[in-house]
Amino acid sequence: MDIAYASGIVHLFLSSFVLWIVPAHLVFLSDLVAFPASLFFSLRAIVIRWNQKQPQIAGAHGDSTASGLSEQCTTDQSDSKTSAREMMTDQKATRRGQHRSDRPVDPLLEQVKSESCGSGGITKRGVPRMRLIMLAAQLLLFAMLLDFVYRPLLTPGKDLTVFRPGYVSHDSARLHIRYPEGGKLELRYRVNDINSPWESAGKFDSPTEETDFTTTSALINLRPSTKYIVELITHQPTASVDSVLLDSIEFKTAPGPHSPTRLRFGTGSCIKPNFPYRPTMSPDIYGFESMLEHSSDMDMIMFMGDFIYADVPLYFGASVEDYRRLYRQVYMAKSSRHLLRKVPMLHVYDDHEIKNNWHNQEREPMGSAMTAYNEYNGLANPPPQLPGRSYYNFTHGNVAFYAWDTRRYRTRWEDSSSAGDGVKGATMLGAEQKRDFIEWLAEVNHTAAVKFVVSSVPVTTGWSNFDSSQDTWRGYPTERSEILGLTKYIPNLFFLSGDRHEMAAVELPSGNIEFSTSPISQFTFPLVGKFKSDINGEKTLHYRRPGHVKYGIIDVDTETDPDVPRIKYSLYTTDVDQGHSPAWVYEANGVPWV
Ligand SMILES: *[C@@H]1O[C@H](CO)[C@@H](O)[C@H](O)[C@H]1NC(C)=O
Ligand SMILES: *[C@@H]1O[C@H](CO)[C@@H](O)[C@H](O)[C@H]1NC(C)=O
Repeated sequence: MDIAYASGIVHLFLSSFVLWIVPAHLVFLSDLVAFPASLFFSLRAIVIRWNQKQPQIAGAHGDSTASGLSEQCTTDQSDSKTSAREMMTDQKATRRGQHRSDRPVDPLLEQVKSESCGSGGITKRGVPRMRLIMLAAQLLLFAMLLDFVYRPLLTPGKDLTVFRPGYVSHDSARLHIRYPEGGKLELRYRVNDINSPWESAGKFDSPTEETDFTTTSALINLRPSTKYIVELITHQPTASVDSVLLDSIEFKTAPGPHSPTRLRFGTGSCIKPNFPYRPTMSPDIYGFESMLEHSSDMDMIMFMGDFIYADVPLYFGASVEDYRRLYRQVYMAKSSRHLLRKVPMLHVYDDHEIKNNWHNQEREPMGSAMTAYNEYNGLANPPPQLPGRSYYNFTHGNVAFYAWDTRRYRTRWEDSSSAGDGVKGATMLGAEQKRDFIEWLAEVNHTAAVKFVVSSVPVTTGWSNFDSSQDTWRGYPTERSEILGLTKYIPNLFFLSGDRHEMAAVELPSGNIEFSTSPISQFTFPLVGKFKSDINGEKTLHYRRPGHVKYGIIDVDTETDPDVPRIKYSLYTTDVDQGHSPAWVYEANGVPWV
C-alpha cells in the first residue's frame, strides 16, 4: 500500500471515530492534520498518473479507453480483473520503459502503475478508479466532520423561539420563554378542558438581547392536580393583525403538599445533538425522540447534567455567546420542541456545561457558563432556598427531591490530594450546601414517603477509571461516608445520577439504591465497560454499557397503600426493542416511613 492510500485510510478512520464512536477532542485535532496530508498524497498520486498518461494517449493509439490497460499491463486485453500476471507484465514493461528512457524512479509512480493493472477500473486519463473513489470518500467524510463540529456556528439559532414549562408546583408554574422579535407578549391559560374560560396572565415586554432574549414567567394561584394549557401570544405594534399565537404548552400541577400521589418522571443526562452522526439539515436528539413515545403521562423529566458539551470535540471559546449558542442547538431540535412543550424539565448542571471535569470553583469561564445555564435551564428550576444558588429542593405531593450542585463548591484537585482516592477534608458540596442538605434530610425524614437525592456525578464507587475516581463521589470519600451515614437511617431514600454514559443500579453500603442513568444521546465506550460491579461493599442490581440512548422512567405510587410506597424504575435504551419497551425493570415496596 502506498502513502496516499495509507494516509487516506488513517483519515477515514479518525473522522469515522469522531462521527460515530467517540467525539474525542484529540482525535478530531489529529484528523485536522491527517486530512490535508491524505489529500495531498492522493492528489499527488493522481496528478503523477495523469501526467504520465498524457503523452502515451496522445502518441499511441486512438482508442483511449483501452489504452491505459493495453499499454501498461497486459497482452490479454479481454480481462482486466486478473491481477498477478498483469502486474508482473506491467512491472516488466515498467522496467523496460525505464531502461529505455533512463528516467529516475518515483516509488509512488511504480505503485501507481502496478496497482492500476490489478484494481480493475481505470479512467480515460489512466487514473485508477480506486484512487478517485478514495478521494471522494476522504472529501465526503471531512465535510461531514466539519458539519458535525461546526454546525453550531453554521446555524447559531439566533431566531429561535422557546416556550416550555419548567418547575410546576401544586399552585404555580414557571415558564421559560425565548423570543427575539420584540414587541409585547401575553400569556393566556385555562384548565385543559374545552368549557373552561381563558384567563390572561397579563402583557409584558419581550425579553431583550441582554439575556439572549430569554426570560422566565410565572403563573400563580393554580389548582392542584389539574391539567393546564397555556398560550404564548405576541402583540406586534406594526403588524396588521392585533395578535399572533406563537406556541402553546401543557402541564399538570402537582398534588397538594404531603398528599399521596402517583408520580411518573423521566431521568437522563448527557446530550450531544446528532450523535451518532447522520447527514441531515435538522440535527435531532435521539434520546428525546425516544422519550417522546413514553411522555404522555409523565409529570416531569429530571435532567442530571451535561445538557451541552462546551468542549466536545472542540471548545469554541469562553464568551457567554459561545455557551448560549450550544443551548440553542439543543432547543432547536425537533424532538426537544415536541417533548418539552408537554413535559416540564428540571435541571442540574455538570462539568460539560463549563468544561470537562470542572473543579475550579468560580474561576473563568464559570461566569459565562453559569449566565448561559441560568438563562436557558436554571431559572425555570424550583426556586433555591438562598438566592443565587443552583441547588434546590421541592416536593411533589409526599415525594421530596433535593438536587445538589456538585460542581461549584467542590475542593479543587490542586488544593488537596483528593485526586485519586481522596484525602480527608475534601468536600463536594461545600459547607453551606451540606448544612442545608442535612436540615432537609431531617425535615423530610418522616414527612415524605419517598425521597430522591439528585447528584450530577455518581455516588457509587463502581466507576473507578482514572478520571471518575477523581471526578465522582469516589474522589471525595470522607464526605461521601458522612452522607451515607445519615441517609442509611432515612426510609425510602434513592439517589439519582448521570454522567458516565453507562447505566448502573447499585445498592450502596448504606442500603440506599442509586440509579445512575446516561446518556440521552452520547457515545458509550466501545467494547469494554468502565464499571466494576460489587466493589467496596456495594451490590450491583444491574449494569449496562451499550446504547447511545439510555434513560430511566420512574413511577412512584404513595396512593395505593399510603403506609408502604411503591417504586418502579424502568430502563429504556434504543438498543433493546428500539426503546418501545423497557430493557430492565426494578420494582420494590418501600418501608413504612411515618
Ligand atoms: C426545602 O427544604 C426546607 C428544609 O430544609 C424546607 O423548609 C422547605 O420548605 C423546602 N422547600 C420546598 C419548596 O419544599
Ligand atoms: C431519621 O429518622 C430516624 C428514625 O426516627 C432517625 O434515627 C434518624 O436520625 C433521622 N435522620 C435524620 C437525618 O434526622
